Amino acid sequence: MIVYRYAMKTRHYSPLDEFILHLDKAVQTVFGKPPVIERSNPAIDCDDAELNEGERRLSASLMRVNHAGEVSAQALYQGQALTARLPDVRDRMERAALEENDHLAWCEQRCHELDSHTSFFGPVWYTGSFAIGALAGLIGDKWSLGFVAETEHQVVNHLEGHLDRLPEHDKKSRAILEQMKEDETHHATVAIESGGAALPEPVKRLMKVVSKVMTTTAYRV
Ligand SMILES: [Fe+2]
Ligand SMILES: [Fe+2]
Repeated sequence: MIVYRYAMKTRHYSPLDEFILHLDKAVQTVFGKPPVIERSNPAIDCDDAELNEGERRLSASLMRVNHAGEVSAQALYQGQALTARLPDVRDRMERAALEENDHLAWCEQRCHELDSHTSFFGPVWYTGSFAIGALAGLIGDKWSLGFVAETEHQVVNHLEGHLDRLPEHDKKSRAILEQMKEDETHHATVAIESGGAALPEPVKRLMKVVSKVMTTTAYRV
């Protein structure tokens, strides 16, 4: 899949082709089975512990929030890839989006294993995040990369909070979040090393407020 995607980059697409490709990615992210890369689900070898009803509901709600976060991550990266100026920044955004697909697929599978569903507001999370990502890309690559770094830092904090709240014996959900935490930390480091600028504090605070709206909503629906 990666080869195919990178092979596509050597071709030239009209604006309409680009639009259709982005639309296809959006539909796959929100409604379909997004392409995953070579990694298997980190929960695969974990014991499927018996959870009582309260624990199951808690785990499902937390994994729904994480799935919604991954839908947003996809959209942010796709939006940024659309407007990034430097080709290598654009390629890095597309590569990161591909890696986030793994997280998306793992969280979705875990939601279903916990007899629950992903957030009904997926199209809203995608559309809003795509617009924010595209805007960040338009402002400039160093700010766009800084935005990625800050987003990933906030996601890591949020994952740590979820790891504290998950039932101790829900090893499957924990394994997924531990791997995601490692990956998001790496994404942040790559963004900074690629020239990401530190964002102003008011922007960071605004990002936290927006993220709170999404996480609170997705926890319930
Ligand atoms: Fe992720
Ligand atoms: Fe990430």
